[in-house]
Amino acid sequence: MSTLKAQVAKSFGNAAKLYHSRAKVQSLSAQALLQGHTLKGQVLDLGCGPGGYLFEALAPQSQCQYFGLDLSLDMLKTHQGERKIQGDAEQLPLQNAAIDAIVSNMAMQWCQLDALAQECYRVLKPKGRLLSAIVCQGSLSELSRIGMSVNTLPSRAKVESAFTQAGFQLSIEMQTLTVEFDSPKALFQSIKGIGASSTQSNCQGLKGKRWWQQSCAALEQQGLTLSYQVALLYAEKLPQ
Ligand SMILES: C[S@@+](CC[C@H](N)C(=O)[O-])C[C@H]1O[C@@H](n2cnc3c(N)ncnc32)[C@H](O)[C@@H]1O
Repeated sequence: MSTLKAQVAKSFGNAAKLYHSRAKVQSLSAQALLQGHTLKGQVLDLGCGPGGYLFEALAPQSQCQYFGLDLSLDMLKTHQGERKIQGDAEQLPLQNAAIDAIVSNMAMQWCQLDALAQECYRVLKPKGRLLSAIVCQGSLSELSRIGMSVNTLPSRAKVESAFTQAGFQLSIEMQTLTVEFDSPKALFQSIKGIGASSTQSNCQGLKGKRWWQQSCAALEQQGLTLSYQVALLYAEKLPQ
């Protein structure tokens, strides 16, 4: 595993135990993603984390054989599913044309999308389906507005081109999801507590207590909300 991947896995692993209580937006995006869609056969949840809405919605369905894959072993340890694999979504430890459907919620933005899209295409059966909610550029604008840095996120155009070039026929629906908090601490925990805070988490230490207090005050003044621009990607593997 590369150093960067190991850091991502460690960061998410540290967040595993408290993940469910802080992952509000993940629940909203997963519900939006599955709404009106039925899946059958072997369904792979890429970047499954500790489970969450996709697992809860799909695993009990008799027509689905759910299994989860994640980079972080600690995340998988807290996942209650029976079938779990530790692995990298960009180098899937699976045979060609083995899977009927891929689902993924709030995970693909951590990946190199071209490599990921090619791997998804490789492991899906012909006409296999892919449903993914991906956090895109423009998210967490509330943090940018007060001068905090936000991880680099893909644009909608990048998502579209990566999956089209890999051989998928697709549609993308953009949704803005907004979550409210009752304190700046809860707001920051919602990002840090899900392991997604590699740029924010260092801020307090690097810039000092005063800067931190000013950031919290600025947030309280503008409103304790975070908004996410989420691409809901619906794709089908076209036969070559
Ligand atoms: C924000 S969490 C989402 C978890 C879950 N899908 C949910 O709905 O709550 C992102 C997950 O993606 C995983 N992840 C990040 N990069 C990955 C990669 N290259 N391969 C597999 N999993 C990855 C992380 O370890 C983390 O568990």
